[in-house]
Amino acid sequence: RSIVIFASGSGSNVEKIAEYFADRSDVEISLILSNNPKAGVIERARRYHIPVLLFDRTGFYQTDQVTSLLQKQGVDLIVLAGFMWLMPVPLVQAFPNRIVNIHPALLPKFGGKGMYGHFVHEAVVGAGETESGITIHFVNEQYDEGQVIFQATCPVEPTDDAEAVARKVQVLEHRHYPRVVDEVLQRLDLQYEL
Ligand code: GRF
Repeated sequence: RSIVIFASGSGSNVEKIAEYFADRSDVEISLILSNNPKAGVIERARRYHIPVLLFDRTGFYQTDQVTSLLQKQGVDLIVLAGFMWLMPVPLVQAFPNRIVNIHPALLPKFGGKGMYGHFVHEAVVGAGETESGITIHFVNEQYDEGQVIFQATCPVEPTDDAEAVARKVQVLEHRHYPRVVDEVLQRLDLQYEL
């Protein structure tokens, strides 16, 4: 099975996924794609000898280069790990139920455009929530609204600031995302398309 990972940031989730599959001959991370030439994920990819493809808005939205490259590569699952752009509709349509994303909050709350990265944790603390967590979901044309695959929660103490929540949520991301990606891949083996 072959997976590719889209990331825009430091890539700590990419690293955990690469570690998890490092000794697995049945799953290969064939490419890491990023819209950010300065992303920390590029250095992490180098350490795991995973090729990196950089693209800009024009290449991603005005052409179908990325979609056709992934179709040619025979990608089984597209994983988003801190990817900050909306997936183009043709790409989502080319890979139905084959794109997963992790959101650092308990969707459907604290989701949607603009609710990403650190801002989500500010919003959770600001709303006086007593818990937060992660949502791993399939990606469809609406931002953060695809079918939920897995959620895990962590408590938010009254004394927690956004940074404290971010740390607890990141522990959940690193603990669960690699295994959930593996479970989705295993289910693909059971999915037949007539
Ligand atoms: C994580 O908070 C993830 O939930 C969100 O973007 C961040 C990625 O962090 N989608 P990293 O680049 O994997 O460290």
